[in-house]
Amino acid sequence: MKLLYRTITLLFGISITSARSTSSVIIPPATSNGPTHTEFIASSKSLNSPKIFNVQPTMYGQAWSFDAISSKDPFYSIFAVFSASPEYASVNNTLDVFIYVQAGPDKVYTAISKFAEFAELNTHGNGTSGIWKGTGCSFSASEDMSTMTVHFTHPFEITGSVVLRAVAPPHYPCSPADIGASMEFLPHFGWNNAFPDAKTNVDLKVNGTQVKFEDGIGYQDLSWADTSLEDVFEHYIWIHGRLGPYSIVVWFITGSDGTQKTSGYVSKDGELLSTPCSGVTIETEAAAPNSTIGPIQSFSVEIPFENQVIVANLTVNNVLINESNLVHGTGIIRGGVKDGRMDYSGSAAFEHLTSV
Ligand SMILES: *[C@@H]1O[C@H](CO)[C@@H](O)[C@H](O)[C@H]1NC(C)=O
Ligand SMILES: *[C@@H]1O[C@H](CO)[C@@H](O)[C@H](O)[C@H]1NC(C)=O
Ligand SMILES: *[C@@H]1O[C@H](CO)[C@@H](O)[C@H](O)[C@H]1NC(C)=O
Ligand SMILES: *[C@@H]1O[C@H](CO)[C@@H](O)[C@H](O)[C@H]1NC(C)=O
Ligand SMILES: *[C@@H]1O[C@H](CO)[C@@H](O)[C@H](O)[C@H]1NC(C)=O
Ligand SMILES: *[C@@H]1O[C@H](CO)[C@@H](O)[C@H](O)[C@H]1NC(C)=O
Repeated sequence: MKLLYRTITLLFGISITSARSTSSVIIPPATSNGPTHTEFIASSKSLNSPKIFNVQPTMYGQAWSFDAISSKDPFYSIFAVFSASPEYASVNNTLDVFIYVQAGPDKVYTAISKFAEFAELNTHGNGTSGIWKGTGCSFSASEDMSTMTVHFTHPFEITGSVVLRAVAPPHYPCSPADIGASMEFLPHFGWNNAFPDAKTNVDLKVNGTQVKFEDGIGYQDLSWADTSLEDVFEHYIWIHGRLGPYSIVVWFITGSDGTQKTSGYVSKDGELLSTPCSGVTIETEAAAPNSTIGPIQSFSVEIPFENQVIVANLTVNNVLINESNLVHGTGIIRGGVKDGRMDYSGSAAFEHLTSV
């Protein structure tokens, strides 16, 4: 009787699960002026499912970003983006993939895919996998989102894989990743962070040279906007890194209307401690005018959690991207808990955008 009962619930469970939690979305390459639907309130646990249905020519669209830094040497890092964005590409060909790979001081390799014929995103359970058809680039996720793998194959010029294993729970700008929570960070701009921190193995080949590191500090997020990014941001700073048992993420945004927004995230040993949007502070120290690391030399941030505060200072080590006001790089982050243990340090990534 018990066995029979279990069999029935199992069968029932499978049919419900497959009906409810499997979905497939095809994103065409071209924009269209037809009606758009944008999701800003979370309706499921699949953070990486597409959030804009029908991207119009004047929109930013949506982009899945991945990065990883070697925990031993911040001169080894990667940054890759799968985009469905007329702003990144063009109105008739919105789908491409790019990667930056740093393999030591002054050694940055980059590859941009040809345009994809279409993108196919399949969601199973909480995980979304994506194929940018014809580019050689794809990503796949486990149903429980404990792992995500990015695959690069021919005809993409850089080949190999990036494997992320989650060490920190996901979140939205000002909350845990709960159904019904808002993902709208600024008006018309959505953001969620499926992997705030992940143990990451990178194994890539660039022109016969292997770029490999294990147990790096990885990250993945999705951003989307149904306006242009110029209409969203005037300025932003974004940082993620790990300090001993703590994983942190911070965003400081000045909106195009001058509004200031902040988002902080702290987890410890895989447990979410805080996702505050107030009380998060940042100070920057300008670099010397002849500096080779961009206009900012260090960032110091504070993120409150429970009745304590994470204090961290990121010193810029290296810049991977420096293009049209966007700087993306890596550094060393030092700090810990105010009035507690402060001597943690680790690798971190940062990005800042200043408007023209
Ligand atoms: C996009 O495609 C349309 C329709 O084929 C064409 O009229 C238009 O000129 C193209 N736009 C660009 C920027 O290539
Ligand atoms: C590989 O080498 C060729 C020839 O030097 C160069 O044109 C190409 O950009 C390199 N590829 C990458 C990804 O750096
Ligand atoms: C999806 O995530 C929720 C909690 O975030 C969890 O309860 C559920 O088991 C996950 N689903 C799968 C298929 O792993
Ligand atoms: C920048 O200029 C200062 C003062 O002129 C000099 O001491 C320093 O070595 C320079 N740094 C670099 C990276 O060129
Ligand atoms: C970034 O680019 C600007 C403009 O091209 C240039 O002036 C600056 O020196 C570059 N900074 C770095 C860190 O490469
Ligand atoms: C961060 O640390 C560096 C090196 O210790 C220090 O020079 C800098 O002033 C600190 N930055 C901030 C913004 O506190």
